Amino acid sequence: MPFRIAVIPGDGIGPEVIAQGIRVLQVVTAATGTDLDFVSYDLGADRYLRTGEILPDSVFRELERVDGIYLGAVGDPRVQNPQYAAGLLLRLRFELDLWVNLRPSRLLAPGLTPLRDATSIDLVVVRENTEGAYVGIGGQFKRGTPDEIAIQEDVNTRKGVERIVRYAFGLAQQRKMAGHQGRVTMVDKSNALYHAHDLWQRVFALERQAASDLEAEHLFVDAAAMQLVKDPGRFDVVVTSNMFGDILSDLASELVGGLGQAPSANINPDNRRGLFEPVHGSAPKHAGKGIANPVGAILAGAMMLRHLGDVAGALQIEAAVMSAARDRRTTRDLGGTLTTTAAAEAVLERLERVESSRAS
Ligand code: NAD
Ligand code: IPM
Ligand code: MN
Repeated sequence: MPFRIAVIPGDGIGPEVIAQGIRVLQVVTAATGTDLDFVSYDLGADRYLRTGEILPDSVFRELERVDGIYLGAVGDPRVQNPQYAAGLLLRLRFELDLWVNLRPSRLLAPGLTPLRDATSIDLVVVRENTEGAYVGIGGQFKRGTPDEIAIQEDVNTRKGVERIVRYAFGLAQQRKMAGHQGRVTMVDKSNALYHAHDLWQRVFALERQAASDLEAEHLFVDAAAMQLVKDPGRFDVVVTSNMFGDILSDLASELVGGLGQAPSANINPDNRRGLFEPVHGSAPKHAGKGIANPVGAILAGAMMLRHLGDVAGALQIEAAVMSAARDRRTTRDLGGTLTTTAAAEAVLERLERVESSRAS
């Protein structure tokens, strides 16, 4: 039985990078034997502007049943509806209960970091993906008047915080066995948000006791932003709330070469659902020019393969991407001169070299 993969190319540079990601996935899986059946979904700004639909319920019900979703980006300057991203991307994260957002930042090649002294950066932001300030609870009162009130609630549940903090310790355990530091850094703002983030503190205190062979530290989010720039090598697994995870993952991506190369996985470890996408958005100013970096989308494809059990395929993609980055066979944002298509071809060439050396 093939894995059914719903493809949502989306907006801006999304379709350009996803097309290259699919090419890479097709080459790798032809060799590893994983059978992927891609079905493309017309969702995004064009459809919304044409029909007024963001994510029809009938389409949502199909997406509930697939083995994986591969998404480009959501966001278009022509769409002014502030609930557009919430109605598509956030709805999928919330209603499919994709409660883990994994955002790894690994230095692909020396010289890609803007930091003077950093040599090894290899961390994962574990972002809570279904709660926090993103849930959409709140409202506006006396809108547009001098007495206006705007409220957006930050929702943190015991169940939600426990499962994400526990997941972070489990991931650190696995990473330690693979030679990483085995350290969990929990990031919150409990000195100011002393109701909501006190819950994170208490859950963290219990979970760290249960994982005494791992290092566990706490940082307030302001200090975490500072430490990420000052000493990124100290971080291994960073667990945090939805909004802080959004912000820190853009920062961490930039430390290893930029948003163009950063992948992410939105997963539910209980029912194995998953949505895989680059961290970046639709970058409208780059759209249609053939200059967007496809590596974030390609590495998101590798995360999808790993999730589906094809670890060999994921490792091959990651090695090929690193080799291309070291040789500067990249788009401009990573210091190369290549177009989107040519940068993906540099990755494909390296995959094919691995295949032919194995065959000979
Ligand atoms: P963005 O991530 O789209 O782009 C920010 C900048 O990062 C770009 O201007 C570009 O310089 C660089 N960049 C990003 N991706 C790149 C790539 N593949 N190759 C080369 N450079 C790249 O963020 P933004 O400009 O704040 O947002 C644009 C739109 O995307 C907004 O509508 C926003 O809401 C949306 N967005 C969507 C997602 C998502 O779908 N997951 C994520 C972030 C932003
Ligand atoms: C991301 C994006 C989204 C988020 C936006 C588009 C709602 O920035 O995936 O990082 O904040 O989660
Ligand atoms: Mn973001």
